[in-house]
Amino acid sequence: MTLIFTLDPELDPGLRAEITALWTAASNAGGAVGFVRPVTEEEVWVAAEKQFAGIAPAGPDRLLVAREAESGRLAALLVFESMRFEPMDHWRLLTRVMVHPDFQGRGYGSALLAETERVAREWGLAGLRLYLRGGLGLESFYGRSGYVEVGRVPGTIRVGPGDDRDDVTMWLDLR
Ligand SMILES: CC(C)(COP(=O)(O)OP(=O)(O)OC[C@H]1O[C@@H](n2cnc3c(N)ncnc32)[C@H](O)[C@@H]1OP(=O)(O)O)[C@@H](O)C(=O)NCCC(=O)NCCS
Repeated sequence: MTLIFTLDPELDPGLRAEITALWTAASNAGGAVGFVRPVTEEEVWVAAEKQFAGIAPAGPDRLLVAREAESGRLAALLVFESMRFEPMDHWRLLTRVMVHPDFQGRGYGSALLAETERVAREWGLAGLRLYLRGGLGLESFYGRSGYVEVGRVPGTIRVGPGDDRDDVTMWLDLR
């Protein structure tokens, strides 16, 4: 399967709906993208609208999406978030890194990170930062693409009673 990447796609109503559906499916499959399952599409829509409001051309954040060439389906996405603070303008925070559950485990996540790094280098960024939820093995997923753990706050994410997870910061140095 081939992935086709688009940076700054037009955020029309169709794409907004596709992103919300993917985000809901990824969350309900156990993904760590701002929700603890179960979550409804209506709940995700509220968060998605806030996210969309910051994305270019409306805001300084940039959206990267990937579609499967064969089916045309939205397969993966992420957002390059600006800190909106000039002293932190030489790097970006990656958020909403997700692959549709129908397509997970096929290398799409790694391909998404590779394209992300290519774009970040083209922009001349010094690095990429992201936060992940511990206990899912995500450190090794990002670690394979060169990201290094630079911080960990123990037990600060309560996903359920007696189930506290670490909030982990990863960094990809591009300098
Ligand atoms: C994390 C995610 C983006 C990875 O994408 P993917 O397309 O499944 O990943 P790839 O196929 O490129 O890589 C798969 C490898 O990563 C590992 N991996 C994938 N998802 C993982 C997860 N949630 N936890 C641990 N390891 C994971 C697999 O074990 C696999 O390793 P292997 O090749 O040694 O078997 C995807 O699973 C996802 O969208 N998850 C839900 C949303 C989420 O939690 N995002 C992370 C936000 S910080």
